[in-house]
Amino acid sequence: MRESVAVLDFGSQYAQLITRRIRECGVYSEILPHTISAHDLAALAPKAVVLSGGPASVMEAEHPSIDSELLSSGIPILGICYGHQLMAHALGGSLLRGSNREYGPAAIHIKGTTPLFSGLGGTTDVWMSHGDHVVVPPPGFEIIAYTSSCPVAAMADHARNLYGVQFHPEVIHTPQGMKMINNFLTSVAGCTGGWSMAGFIQESIDAIRSEVKGSRVICGLSGGVDSAVVAALLNEAIGDRMTAIFVDNGLLRSGEVDEIRNIFTRLYPLNLDVVHAQDLFIDQLRGITDPEDKRKIIGKVFIDVFNNEAARIGGAEFLAQGTLYPDIIESRSAKGGPSATIKSHHNVGGLPKDITFKLIEPLKELFKDEVRLLGQELGLPETIVDRQPFPGPGLAVRIIGEVTRENLAILQEADQRVQEEISACNEILDIWQAFAVLLPVKSVGVMGDERTYANVIAIRAVSSLDGMTADWVKLPYDLLGRISSRIINEVAGVNRVVYDISSKPPSTIEWE
Ligand code: XMP
Repeated sequence: MRESVAVLDFGSQYAQLITRRIRECGVYSEILPHTISAHDLAALAPKAVVLSGGPASVMEAEHPSIDSELLSSGIPILGICYGHQLMAHALGGSLLRGSNREYGPAAIHIKGTTPLFSGLGGTTDVWMSHGDHVVVPPPGFEIIAYTSSCPVAAMADHARNLYGVQFHPEVIHTPQGMKMINNFLTSVAGCTGGWSMAGFIQESIDAIRSEVKGSRVICGLSGGVDSAVVAALLNEAIGDRMTAIFVDNGLLRSGEVDEIRNIFTRLYPLNLDVVHAQDLFIDQLRGITDPEDKRKIIGKVFIDVFNNEAARIGGAEFLAQGTLYPDIIESRSAKGGPSATIKSHHNVGGLPKDITFKLIEPLKELFKDEVRLLGQELGLPETIVDRQPFPGPGLAVRIIGEVTRENLAILQEADQRVQEEISACNEILDIWQAFAVLLPVKSVGVMGDERTYANVIAIRAVSSLDGMTADWVKLPYDLLGRISSRIINEVAGVNRVVYDISSKPPSTIEWE
C-alpha cells in the first residue's frame, strides 16, 4: 500500500494547498471530510493526519469536529489553525475568543527542541490568519513556539505525536513552512517519500491495463491539457484499443480543430477520431441562459455523441475523462462537505445518471500543475502541456446569456485577438488563463460619424497555481490598449472592451 497522508477538511481553501505541499515532499496526500470515522480512516492506513484550518470557532457549541478516537489512535497528527484549536479544545486546553482576526506576518520564537522545527533558528517568520487562539495547551503538551500576541503559536505532545500550529506553514508567506511540513512527514510520521510522476505513470498504466483487460476505451479529447494527458496515458497503456474522440462542438476557439488534428496526427500520433457535431450542440442550447443548464445540456450531448461513436467503433466499454482532483473536491461538497458547491463542472456534476460506460479517470488524484508534469514525462508537445485550461463547456460559459452562432462568431474573433496579443508577452506575464467574454449588454458608441449600439467584450487574464484561487493580472496598459483597439476595429459588432479586475475568491475565473 502506498504511503499517504490524510488532510481532514474543515472548509478551508488552504486544505488543497496543504495536500499539494505534502505531495511536493514526495508523499501522496488526499483530502477527506472531517466527519470521517476513526474506523474508516484506519482502513486507509494513513501515515499521518493533518487537520486543516477553517472558518468556524471551537468556542461555538455547534462546531465541526472529528471522531474523538482519532486523537488517541496513535496516528501522528498535525493541527493547523482551526485544527490546532480543535485539538487544544478537545484535549482540555483553554482558548480565548478573538475579537479581531490576526491576519498577516508574525515572528515565532521557538522554545526547546522539537522534531517539527528541526533545522530552524530561534526565530522564524510565519503567516497568521485567525480569530481565536490557544492560551493554555492541554495536559501533556508543551509550548514549542510563541509570538508577542500568541502565547501558544505551536504546541506538541511528543509522546503521543500530536502537534498543533496556529500559523499556516502551507502558504508561501511562511518561508520555512515546507521545512516544517517535511519535518513532520519524515521525523514525526516516518514517511520515506518517493511519490513521483514517473512512479505515478507506471501505477496508472498498470491500473488501466488490469481494469480494461481486452476491452476498448473511448476518450473525449477537449483540446485542453487534461484530456490530452489522459489520452496519452491510455495510448501508452493500451495503444489502439483507445480511440480519442475530439468533438467539434462549435464551442471551441478559433483554429482549434485544425490545431488538435495536427498535434495528434503528426506530433504525438494516436488513434484519433474527429466528430463534427456543431449543429447538435448549438441547437440544443437555443434559448438556454442559465449556466448550470448549459453545462448539463452540453454534458448530455457529449455523452450522446460518445454513445453514437462508441456504437460505430464497437466494443467500447469504457469512457476516459480528464477529471482532476479539484473537480472532485468542488463537486464533492454537493454531498454535504463543508465547502459550498460553486460550479458543477460538466465532467463531474452534470454527467447523466443513465450513463452506460464505465468511467476511467486516471487524473482524479492530481492537481493541474501535476498534470502538466505528467504530460512532460509522457513526451507530449509543449503546445499541449503549456496550454491554458479551457472549460469543457467551452465558449458557451463565456457567452453570458444565450449561445447563438452569431455570438459565437463574435467571441471567437475577439478571443483570437486576445490570444495573439497575449502570447507575445506570456512568458513575462505568467498568465494562467486569458480570454474574452461576451457580455449580454449593448452599449452606445460612435464610429466615424455614426452612432453604434453594439456588444461589449470583457477581457479576463488571471494568474493561478491550480485554478482554485486566482488573481487578475496587472496587464500593461499598452497591451490592454492594443487588445481593445484590435477588437473594436477588427471585430464587427463590438464597440466596447472592458477589463475584469476581480480575484478568485470572491469571483470565479470563468464568468459562468
Ligand atoms: P472557475 O470558473 O470555477 O474555474 O473559477 C476554475 C477552472 O476550471 C475551468 N472550468 C471548467 N472546466 N468544465 C471544465 O472542464 C467546466 O464546466 C468548467 N468551468 C470552469 C476554468 O476554465 C478554470 O480553469
